[in-house]
Parts: sequence; C-alpha cells; structure tokens
Amino acid sequence: MSKLNKQYICQICGTLHSKWSGKCEHCNEWNSLLEENVSKPSGPLSKSSGHKIKFEYLKNDTLEYPRLKTNFNEIDRVMGGGFVSGSVTLIGGDPGIGKSTLLLQLVGNLSKMNEQCIYVSGEESLSQIKMRADRLGIKDSNIQFASVTNASDIATTIGSIKTRSVLIIDSIQTMYLPQIDSSPGTVTQVRACAHELIIAAKKSNSILVLIGHVTKDGNIAGPRVLEHMVDTVLYFEGDNNFQYRILRSMKNRFGPTNEIGVFEMLNVGLKEIMNPSKLFLSDRQKNVSGSAIFAGLEGTRPILIEVQALVMPSSLASPRRTIVGWDTARLSMLSAVLESRCKIHLSNMDIFLNIAGGIKIFEPAADLAVAAAIISSVKDVPISFSTVFFGEVGLSGEIRKVNQAELRIKEATKLGFDNIILPSKQKVIIEKNMSYNNLTLLSDLVDLKIHILI
Ligand code: TYD
Ligand code: MG
Repeated sequence: MSKLNKQYICQICGTLHSKWSGKCEHCNEWNSLLEENVSKPSGPLSKSSGHKIKFEYLKNDTLEYPRLKTNFNEIDRVMGGGFVSGSVTLIGGDPGIGKSTLLLQLVGNLSKMNEQCIYVSGEESLSQIKMRADRLGIKDSNIQFASVTNASDIATTIGSIKTRSVLIIDSIQTMYLPQIDSSPGTVTQVRACAHELIIAAKKSNSILVLIGHVTKDGNIAGPRVLEHMVDTVLYFEGDNNFQYRILRSMKNRFGPTNEIGVFEMLNVGLKEIMNPSKLFLSDRQKNVSGSAIFAGLEGTRPILIEVQALVMPSSLASPRRTIVGWDTARLSMLSAVLESRCKIHLSNMDIFLNIAGGIKIFEPAADLAVAAAIISSVKDVPISFSTVFFGEVGLSGEIRKVNQAELRIKEATKLGFDNIILPSKQKVIIEKNMSYNNLTLLSDLVDLKIHILI
C-alpha cells in the first residue's frame, strides 16, 4: 500500500519542497511551486524483493539497433540516420510552430512504407485531425488515430501490440494517469505518464515520439528530468513570421547533436529544404553596408548565412544592443575587442544585429562575419558581394581556427563565392580560381578594406 503525502514541486526544475514559498531555492524561479500529492511506498525499502539480473557482453550481435528510415531526408539526418527501434524521442517547440503537422506527415510517410503507425492526440479531436490529414494528403493512409488523454489506457493498448510500431503522443502535457492526484501537465503527471508510456512502448521495441510544450524561455515544459528519460531531444524552432522551420537535435544517444533539418511551411504542410544556404541568401541586397556572409556549419552540414549589422550614434546613456539570432554575451565581447584592439568606437553607438532568415547561430566561428558586418556598417561601406567569412575571435584580437574549414569553403564555392576571409592558422587547400585572405588579428580585417570593401 502507499500513502499520499502533500509536497510542493517546482514545475521548472522538479525539486521537492516540504513547504510552499514564492521562489524555488534550487533554480530561483518565481511562482513555480505547485502543491502535488506524492505517493510514498510504505514499509522498509531494505527488504529486498529484487531478482537476479543477467549480464550481457557488448560484443553480442543482439545489441545492434536497427534503424527505420523515414523517407524524410531532413528528419533522418537529424536523427543520425533514421529512428532507432525501441527509442524514445521528445520533440518540443512553440505552440503553432508545426509539431503536429510534422509528425502527422512523418507517420503519413511511414504508413505508406507499411509501418504500423499510431497517432494519439490529447489536444485535437478526431475530426480536427482528419481535416489536417486531408490538407496534408494523407487521409487515406493506414494511420490509426485516437483522441484520448488517459495514459494508462494508452499504455495498456500499446503494451499489447506485438510488432514494432511508430507511436506519436501529442502532447505529453495533456496526458494523465488517473491514479495520480495532480492535474495534467504538472511535473508528477508528466513524469509518471512518460514513464508508463516508455515502458509500454519498449515492450514491443516500438518507436515512441512524445510532443512536448515549451515554457516562455524556450525549455520543454515540466522538469528537465523528461529530457533525461528519453534518448533523443529535438526542438522544432522558427519564427512565425517566416516560413522556414528548423528541426534541431539537442540530445541524441544514437547520433550527432546540433544537427539541423530545414523545412518550409506551405499550405499543404511542411516541405524539406535541400539547399538551405540558397534560401537564406535569397533576399540579399547588393551594395548595402552592414551585411556579411558567414560560412557556417550546423551539425555536419555547411550553411551560408547573412549577418546584418546596423551601428548608429545612440541618444541613450547606455546604448542599445539589440540582437536577433546571436548571443548577447558574445556581441559584448566582440564589441569590446573591436573597441580596444581595432580602435572602432562603439561605446556610444547603438548596435542592432540580425541573423537573416530567422535562424539562430551558436558557433563562435561566426565572430569574424559579425565583426565584418559591424565594421562595414560603422564605415558605411558595403562588403563585396562574393566574400564569405569564418573564424573565431579571441580576447586579444587574435583570429582562431575553426573546424571543418574545407566543408565551409566547398559550400561557398558551390554558391558562387570566390573570396574567402579565414584564420591564418587554418591549413586548407584553396582552389586556384578563389582568392582568400588569411587573418592573424582582427585589426587585419579593418586594414583589409581595400580588398574586401568596394
Ligand atoms: P501545428 O502543427 O498545429 O503546430 P503545433 O502542433 O506545433 O502547435 O501547426 C499549426 C500551424 O501551421 C498553423 O498556424 C497553421 C499552419 N499550417 C500551415 O501553414 N500549413 C499546413 O498545411 C498546416 C497543416 C498547418
Ligand atoms: Mg499541436
């Protein structure tokens, strides 16, 4: 038997508190504590009733994971070559970004390949899903739908399936276990429902995909523990004002992380973008100052991105630093280096920085392109149209090497760029018809204006 115990659980980090307070002492979040009934097992835990476990050897062939390819190249690459049987994937993203659409298309594709697919929605009714399936052109497929929220019923049903299936739960925050006395979406419910569903899915070696909501600061709602319980965590991101959507792997037990898949949201669903560089550069203007092209890398894929900067005198005591798609701390560091090592005065200037196309850059390799965009804006001189940049900037103003330079250069060449600005320490073979500038210090970039600025 178990007895109920009232406790307060932080809905952000999952820490237990014995009494309520306005702020979680662990993660410092305000108003995140919620009263929940937690059942504690009665009786001593030391009375072991465990069974003897059987060990396996790593060399056993039975430990191989067969992968299921989805016919969606973008999803397969993000997953590291397809979904692994018996794996659990959590996909998070802002409301309305297209999570349900993506997964419905995914199962639509898989059912055409004769995979058994089950889609359980706690958010939409059957007729709503039907309407969407109609729009996506997969109404006639063999996907099995259910609109339920009782995780116990779902677990019992999927536990009885004998063959490998693909199971989508939309969303984990709408599911509840009747034996737990908390509302759906609370930490206890989310954790327990996920646990129950994962165990049931593993029984048949099925592929389980959980859709998760995100909080206002972009994390998957509920405790981080949910991210620990699953094998793969994906984020579906993008800006509602743009048509592109990016699927990014944050954690992957079976493949690389930070790999991205790019999609475009059309009125007939999501379409894969095979050549994202072309798309991100499509709206580029000629002969405008403050625009530099970064030869970036997202996971294993090279991608060219336009960095835009606008620098202008500020009327404020503390000038504005408005950034979209890049890191605030990194811009502060770079402006300090530009100010102290290159004598570019920015302390009384507003800086607006935008990564065009609504994509976010995390790579330090973008430093050089950002610096070039800032310098070009300060001097109001456009950078030549066929130049790309990559290189990390250190605090002493040195330009540091980055990884996979060849891949970046190859992508730039493919898209018609013929002038590469790169770190001098980078050892790469550059084709004869390309011009390049090896930089040792950031101040070299300022001096370089004759070559790269028209
Ligand atoms: P949805 O998949 O419901 O988002 P989520 O599950 O992440 O909340 O996507 C909803 C949005 O996508 C909605 O604004 C309409 C748009 N959409 C299209 O533009 N084209 C389509 O074919 C579909 C199905 C949706
Ligand atoms: Mg949805």
